[in-house]
Parts: sequence; structure tokens; C-alpha cells
Amino acid sequence: MSEELSLVPLHQRPELMEACAQLLGEEWGKSRASRLHSLQRSSDAFPTCLVLLQSWGPAEPPAAEKSPCQLLGHVRLSRVVGHPHSLFVESVVVPRALRGKGYGRKLMEATEQYARARGFHCLHLTTHDKQHFYAHLGYTLAEPVQIMAFLSPGISAEVLRIFSARSSPATGTPGPWVPDTSQPSLPPTTVPPPPPLPLLSWVRGAPAKSCRQNLLETPHCDAKGLPIFWMKKNI
Ligand SMILES: CC(C)(COP(=O)(O)OP(=O)(O)OC[C@H]1O[C@@H](n2cnc3c(N)ncnc32)[C@H](O)[C@@H]1OP(=O)(O)O)[C@@H](O)C(=O)NCCC(=O)NCCS
Repeated sequence: MSEELSLVPLHQRPELMEACAQLLGEEWGKSRASRLHSLQRSSDAFPTCLVLLQSWGPAEPPAAEKSPCQLLGHVRLSRVVGHPHSLFVESVVVPRALRGKGYGRKLMEATEQYARARGFHCLHLTTHDKQHFYAHLGYTLAEPVQIMAFLSPGISAEVLRIFSARSSPATGTPGPWVPDTSQPSLPPTTVPPPPPLPLLSWVRGAPAKSCRQNLLETPHCDAKGLPIFWMKKNI
């Protein structure tokens, strides 16, 4: 990354929340309030929103009316259930006026560096129509994973296991998929005062028997039934 570009956790730059909400809103709609709510949950303990920023160097002092930095992109990273060394990347976006100039690549490369520096080895993502972009950056087609949409720093691995149980012994009713407990568990966290319930985003990968998996067709679909490509990259 060049000297003027930096990738920064959004929670370290709260003054950029509004600009970020606008960027996401222009691409995917939803209310400003719901976007802001989601962005405000960014933390080092995931989900983490990262912003690609261009700051003006000493050789190019900002004009009085210019903001001291420009927002070039956004991604959100979440933990992946049962894959302690993986992160899930979503809400990848570059402002419309700045696309096609290499910032999308810089955003993804800087995100990979950030994830590696935090000890993660693999990035997963989904896309409806940008599979060629991601393939160009080294991502390959992959199987679905489960995303932890919200993980409070106060939630212990034990609490997560309870809320992720496949079936309730009391009711015998089937529940969501259980992470394999033989896999390395989530990093230990401090014992909490009563924790908020974890909200788990359960993946819906519905395989259609006849469909092959390649960059033009996918056996998976999203919650609305639209075809979706699952991809990953070892970093
Ligand atoms: C997808 C997106 C982030 C790409 O950002 P960008 O700044 O336009 O991409 P870049 O200019 O950095 O392109 C990087 C490389 O990917 C290639 N590329 C870009 N879009 C591509 C596409 N749709 N298919 C194939 N290659 C593509 C470029 O040619 C470039 O190649 P090079 O680095 O070898 O020259 C941007 O288009 C965007 O924000 N789109 C709307 C939101 C969105 O759909 N996000 C993805 C959600 S899954």
C-alpha cells in the first residue's frame, strides 16, 4: 500500500461513521439508522469494520474546505463458526466515482494483511456477481461456512456452545448446526456479567442437485433464493 493509504478500524475513527453509512446505503439501501447501528458495533473483537483512507501528505496540504482524509472503501470482518483461523469478509465497497482505479484491490490486499497480522489464515466471502473480481484476486470457489454476526467480548466459548446446540435435550427439537467441539474453540474470553445473547447468522446454502460449481453457475442460493457464490482464499 502506498504511504497515503491506510486501512483503519472504523471504531478508531467514529467521525467517519456517517460517511460510511452513506457509502453502504448508496450501494445496498436500508435505512441510515440500521446502517449506523451495524457500523457502531464495530470492535476489535469482531465484527470489525475497516475503512480504506487516503490522507493528504505534507506535500499536498488539504484545502480549507477539504476533509483531511477521503474514504476509499469499506469491509466488515466477522468470525467463522468452527474455523478459528478464518474470517468472513462482507460489505466490500468502493465509492462509485472511485471504482476501476485499483482501490478495490488495495482494500482487499490491506484486509488480508490486517487479518494475517491478527493471526488468521483464511478469508471467506459470498458474492452474487463479483466472483470474477475475487477470482482475479486469488479467491477460489468454496463451501459455505457459518458466520458469527455478533460476538460480544464478554461471551465465553461455553456460552457460544450452549446457544449453538443442534438439539435441545429438554424439547428434543432440532436446533441449528453445532460447531464441531473437537475443533479448536474460540479464543478464551473473560468471565462476563450476564452476556447479551449471541446473534448467529446462519448460512443458507441450498444445493441444487444438477448445478455444477464454477464461476458461471453455483449450487448455492441466499436467503431470498438468489444464486450466490461462496469463495475463500488462504492468506
Ligand atoms: C467490487 C468493487 C469493490 C471493486 O472495486 P474497484 O476499485 O472497482 O476494483 P479495482 O479497480 O481495484 O480492480 C482490481 C482488479 O480487479 C479487476 N476487476 C474489477 N472488477 C472486476 C470484475 N467485475 N470482474 C473481473 N475483474 C474485475 C480489475 O480489472 C483489476 O485488475 P488489475 O488489478 O489486475 O488491474 C467495486 O466495484 C464495488 O464497490 N462494487 C459495488 C459493491 C459490490 O458489488 N461489492 C462486492 C460485494 S460481494
